[in-house]
Amino acid sequence: MSAVIGVIGLVAGVFQNINTAESWMPTQHPKNTKARVYAGMSDSTDQSTSGNIPGVALWDAAGRFIGKEMGVYNYVIGDGKFHDIEVKGKMASADYLSVSAFGTDGLCVAAVAVTSPTGYKAGWLGDIGMRCGAPWYPSALVIPGSDPETRPACVWIDQDGSNNHPHTGLTMHLPSFTGEGLANEYNDDIATLCKSLPRFSMWKTRSVHMTLPVYHADKLEYNEDGSDKNIDAILKPSMMQSETTAPNDPTGTKLGVADGPSALEPGPVVELGPSRRRARRQAPQPLRDQLVISNITRHSAREVCESQTSAGPDFVSIVEWLYCDMAEKVLWPLCLEDSTEACFDLDTRSITWQTKPGLRSRKEDLSPKSYRNVQKWI
Ligand SMILES: *[C@@H]1O[C@H](CO)[C@@H](O)[C@H](O)[C@H]1NC(C)=O
Repeated sequence: MSAVIGVIGLVAGVFQNINTAESWMPTQHPKNTKARVYAGMSDSTDQSTSGNIPGVALWDAAGRFIGKEMGVYNYVIGDGKFHDIEVKGKMASADYLSVSAFGTDGLCVAAVAVTSPTGYKAGWLGDIGMRCGAPWYPSALVIPGSDPETRPACVWIDQDGSNNHPHTGLTMHLPSFTGEGLANEYNDDIATLCKSLPRFSMWKTRSVHMTLPVYHADKLEYNEDGSDKNIDAILKPSMMQSETTAPNDPTGTKLGVADGPSALEPGPVVELGPSRRRARRQAPQPLRDQLVISNITRHSAREVCESQTSAGPDFVSIVEWLYCDMAEKVLWPLCLEDSTEACFDLDTRSITWQTKPGLRSRKEDLSPKSYRNVQKWI
């Protein structure tokens, strides 16, 4: 019988402990720790849609270094796929983890699952990063055992910034992402999740060789439900630097500074088309020649469009009958047979405008787009 492992994620916009089947986590190795990284999407510069494999470094609860494994430039994780990164090192439970981008392909990380040689298993879902203000995109990934409509968002990392993603990596404290008590704590005060450096951070200058900030484990106290007894110890944590990843590596001795999550504010409300008013310009859109058409109930074009931090291809929600132009963050209705206003035509894949309502149906292209790649998510 397969064990059940709780992982905190968003269900109907609220953090909950999701009971997942352990089948989505790597199998236990007698000596090594395995980290499985799931790609929600990636923006390879070549024809395939895929992202380079990231590097991973691990520490135990006391900040002692377990091991690290470099990423891979010339091997990629395809959309919705995963890759197991095997880290040789100490026989210990990995409580802290860093994930660092490698190569020029951005990678949208939808989930991370770690199995230690001790048998300790833990997971992290991209919903955490999205709520903490990281650039994000929906993913079609289903976590086994969870409600099929619970699809985690993914968050972008990129080593060289060539795809306009600002972060090179993320760090996390794995025990912080399980249990109803902590899920409720994050719902009550998002700062306890996003503003506590060791718990979760996105970084603009992270490499696999860097240390990370860890809690003084003896300063943390928990309630019976797993939530934090002393919120101050979380918001103003007593921290130390983890053990170096390489004694002779100068970058390995630096305590990283938080240059990550900042945009905790919800995005601006964008008017529904046919208004041509434009949202404030974002960074150039990654994957602008791609279109995602989703028929997944969990996905919302409105949510994607109204978020200041979403980034990725133009997005259609069949369920909402809406289209988001991601370059301008403008929401349009999809066309119906008798549409008289500007709308996005799923057949021509462009915004059309019936110039003389009531007269002959002459449709004129407002913003011609040509999509090199159209993905359907069902
Ligand atoms: C979307 O899903 C619904 C319900 O499963 C189905 O009836 C409909 O045909 C699907 N639409 C598209 C465009 O795939």
